[in-house]
Amino acid sequence: MAEPTLTLNGRTVAFQPGQTILEVAQGAGVYIPTLCYMKDTLPTGSCRVCVVEVEGARTLLPACATQAAANQVIQTESPRVAAARRMVLELALASGNHNCLICEANGECELQALAYRYQVPTPAFAAPPDTPYYFEDNNSMIVRDFSKCIMCGRCVRGCTERQVNDAIAIGYRGSHNKIVAKADKTYIESDCVFCGECVQSCPVGALLDKNAIGQGRSWERTTVRTVCPYCGVGCQLEVHVKDDRILKVTGADAVPNEGRLCVKGRFGWHFVHHPDRLTTPLLRKNGELTPVSWDEALDYVAARLTEIKAKYGPGQIGGWCSARITNEENYLMQKFMRAVLGTNHVDHCARL
Ligand code: FES
Repeated sequence: MAEPTLTLNGRTVAFQPGQTILEVAQGAGVYIPTLCYMKDTLPTGSCRVCVVEVEGARTLLPACATQAAANQVIQTESPRVAAARRMVLELALASGNHNCLICEANGECELQALAYRYQVPTPAFAAPPDTPYYFEDNNSMIVRDFSKCIMCGRCVRGCTERQVNDAIAIGYRGSHNKIVAKADKTYIESDCVFCGECVQSCPVGALLDKNAIGQGRSWERTTVRTVCPYCGVGCQLEVHVKDDRILKVTGADAVPNEGRLCVKGRFGWHFVHHPDRLTTPLLRKNGELTPVSWDEALDYVAARLTEIKAKYGPGQIGGWCSARITNEENYLMQKFMRAVLGTNHVDHCARL
């Protein structure tokens, strides 16, 4: 059966039943701006920045939350659409302190980028100057600055749908609504496990990686793709680096983690620059741990293993592998123990 088609900005486009207008547009290479939309989560249609004009529809429709239908005639950048988007953006800008000059998200902020794209002027209205915006800075990893929150809800869906932690929700009603953790407690007092998915989901500067604040703008950093060193899952990381120093880590949009990370992968990288980090093998000489070369350390280990094997037999030797090394290294470790030393005493920290 032929695929259904619709008309997108004058072009005939085929689509799969069940696709949203946004998905059809993305597949056809047509840009539609989004803020609250987040891949692989249920659309909420809350920000309204993705609205499009569908012929015959009473109102503009959110592309992220409207299913495509056969024979629809859609305009994605008509004057009516652009005016609506400008209004939506102006309202979002007016809802908080979006002072881009000192905002940590400057250069990465999706609201800032859209305000520029649609040339949104300084809002003609604003919240009262004494509006009590929530601010939280009592943990070592995440800063919550709700003067910049636009209530898109992406952090909540990141927490509940992507990480399935269910630690945060949208609380209160109307102009009082805000993101709450465990009936409006701080993250530390709540069920939050500090995976940082909320920070990565935030399109503005409302949720920040505390360690990176003030350390460098997005255009001053380079990102290096690597694999998380902690466990055997092999999560893909983007390491954000400036002057050979790590500023923060985010999850790469690739298998197996699809952008997600745990608390260790995202925030546990300080050992890399720690002054106490071991950078050379240590050998105990005259009761003192002494730095030695790798050659000396390996010669010593080889001699001692040979000596123990000759004196007590291979059954007195055991090998302990690690989840922090690769499968190939673990394979070599057990092969070395079995084939070279002749013992089956091999174990692995992941078993614990
Ligand atoms: Fe579609 Fe927000 S992105 S309503």
